[in-house]
Amino acid sequence: MEDINKEIKELREAIEHHNYRYYVLDSPEISDAEYDRLFKRLVLLEKEHPDLAAPDSPTQRVGAPSQSAFSEVKHRRPMLSLENCFSYEEVKEFDQRVKKLLVKASAIGQSESLEYTVEPKIDGLAVELVYRGGLLVSAATRGDGYVGENITANAKTILAVPLRLEKRPGSTAIPDLLEVRGEIYMEKEAFDILNKSRTVNGESVFANPRNAAAGSVRQLDPKVTARRSLSMFCYGVGSPDGAECFTQYELMMRLQGWGLRINRALIKVCRNPEEIILCLGEIERDREGLPYEIDGAVIKVNRLDLQDLLGEKARTPRWALAYKFKPNQETTRITKIEVQVGRTGALTPVAHLEPVSIGGVVVRRATLHNEQEIARKDIREGDRVVVQRAGDVIPEVVTAIHSVRNGTEKPFSMPSECPLCGTAVVRRPNEKIVECPNAGCPGRVREALKHFVSRRAMNIDGIGDKIITQLYERGMVKDPADIYALTFEDIMKLDKIEDKAAGNLIAAIEKSKYTTLSRFIYALGIRHVGESVAQLLADSFGDIGLLTKATEEDLTAIPGLGPEISGSIISFFDDSTTRDMVDRLLGAGVSFEETFVRESPVSGKSFVITGTLESMKRSEAQELIVRRGGRVSSTVSKSTDFLVAGQSPGSKLDKAKKLGVSILSEDGFLRLLEI
Ligand code: IVH
Repeated sequence: MEDINKEIKELREAIEHHNYRYYVLDSPEISDAEYDRLFKRLVLLEKEHPDLAAPDSPTQRVGAPSQSAFSEVKHRRPMLSLENCFSYEEVKEFDQRVKKLLVKASAIGQSESLEYTVEPKIDGLAVELVYRGGLLVSAATRGDGYVGENITANAKTILAVPLRLEKRPGSTAIPDLLEVRGEIYMEKEAFDILNKSRTVNGESVFANPRNAAAGSVRQLDPKVTARRSLSMFCYGVGSPDGAECFTQYELMMRLQGWGLRINRALIKVCRNPEEIILCLGEIERDREGLPYEIDGAVIKVNRLDLQDLLGEKARTPRWALAYKFKPNQETTRITKIEVQVGRTGALTPVAHLEPVSIGGVVVRRATLHNEQEIARKDIREGDRVVVQRAGDVIPEVVTAIHSVRNGTEKPFSMPSECPLCGTAVVRRPNEKIVECPNAGCPGRVREALKHFVSRRAMNIDGIGDKIITQLYERGMVKDPADIYALTFEDIMKLDKIEDKAAGNLIAAIEKSKYTTLSRFIYALGIRHVGESVAQLLADSFGDIGLLTKATEEDLTAIPGLGPEISGSIISFFDDSTTRDMVDRLLGAGVSFEETFVRESPVSGKSFVITGTLESMKRSEAQELIVRRGGRVSSTVSKSTDFLVAGQSPGSKLDKAKKLGVSILSEDGFLRLLEI
């Protein structure tokens, strides 16, 4: 019995230690499988010896369902909220205000600068954990700030919440009573997985990770909470009395030392408003890449004695400020779902919205991606929806708010015919895409024209969607090459256009003829050829004539080009209409800057590699050649310039010898590459 007791104790200690390494320090020492073995062993021993069970055992994280709704918990100290601000100017004013108060109280000198901590503002829900004698005795939501809901059983299922605090080497003694405050949240990935599975099960989806986290901690059955992968960051304490430290930053380190999770990597100490502003900029810049959602950053006076002195207003402390980012989500209503036809023929459902301002930009339309997404999210015409606009990407409908439906909403179905030309649509077997197969479809042609003139393609300044539509609808421009045949008189025939604008347009068309090969390739709008593939093709071929004649082999030999992209390039140039259009463009005077340095001995040369190279992988060698403007092919022919022969070359060496192709050893190859 003594032995069992000892083993249980050791297992609990080991598991808590590994929880701490994994959830608090993000630095696990053992594999998940090893952890599972320890955990299972402990569960087994506790089951066999119920007398040795303990409420703070790590196995107690999944508790029994609570019998009633949540009881109330009164916070010993009110859980305040934060004053918000939206500009750097207000941040500076905050610093001035705080300093003035402290100078007046003779706590700091007139010219003294103040230290602050800056950290992300997590978009979750505030909770308070109470530890007595190091044991978690209660967890409660913020509620109205004075009274919250008792969510202890659910909080225990969150692995970042320690059931028992532990004094680790270097940390101070744990106070008898510790009220820790922090934010419970759900990571973006867990949120996506949760919503996907809710859709599959026909349940309504959560609008955002914050709602999902709040919904999860308020589950009556803690087993459900346990499955929802929630996490927590601690950001403060109810009363710092027992913590015995001097600054907010030290306090955070102390919490971590006791096993509580803090946002260690992103809590910064700033010594003046300029540093605060730099730090705010960094957090905002890195926002998208964080695995959880944040809605701003929190600035706090670092010295705890000064925090105390500053005190609080009715609901907010004077020593802290939330700098809020412009929201990237808003709710609005879908008035109509329209199907648009893209330049490659793909049909995309687009939501027309009641206009809504998101992050300072009025959004009227948002993509719904494809019909599967609409079905998955159950989005209907007339729905109230959450719309997101992040960075440069096209606004998208994130979710519908199903709870406010009134029954008039109309489900969407993809048409079986192209809405613009009436051709029966085609479904690609393994893709989610529905397409109009008609290359002459007015929707496709118009989009191809818009793409051709766009800023990142031929960059014809002044030709917007409206002008393209008029030119196309009046039959003046049927394909991109027609643009270069337009005269001043043609342009003057357009609606509401004046001499000066027409002249500018003609000048812009003329100017666009002098471009780069990669822009031109991109402008052609070949399926799967975006800007980076266009650049790769320009670097590899260096000449539009060579690209139009490229074989499947030439193309697939280029690192990064798979059969799908190659196939699409070949079929584009196989088509006599597109080939003719390219000829007319070149005939109109479209010409290219040099895209690579001609003096490189590799540029424009064709290589075949055989055998094993000692100094690099074959893919690396291919890349080095392509970067210098050469081409790599997999078969030796008369037009091969060099065969690079590594160890144990195959039959390609014999063929090269027969055809009189220059043969390079690995050394010779490296010399040619100037390595
Ligand atoms: S400090 C006196 N730090 O923001 C309140 N709050 O709008 C001290 N929040 O209710 C709060 N991340 O739930 C603080 N790093 C952070 C935070 C944070 C999120 C939440 C918190 C609070 C709300 C106020």
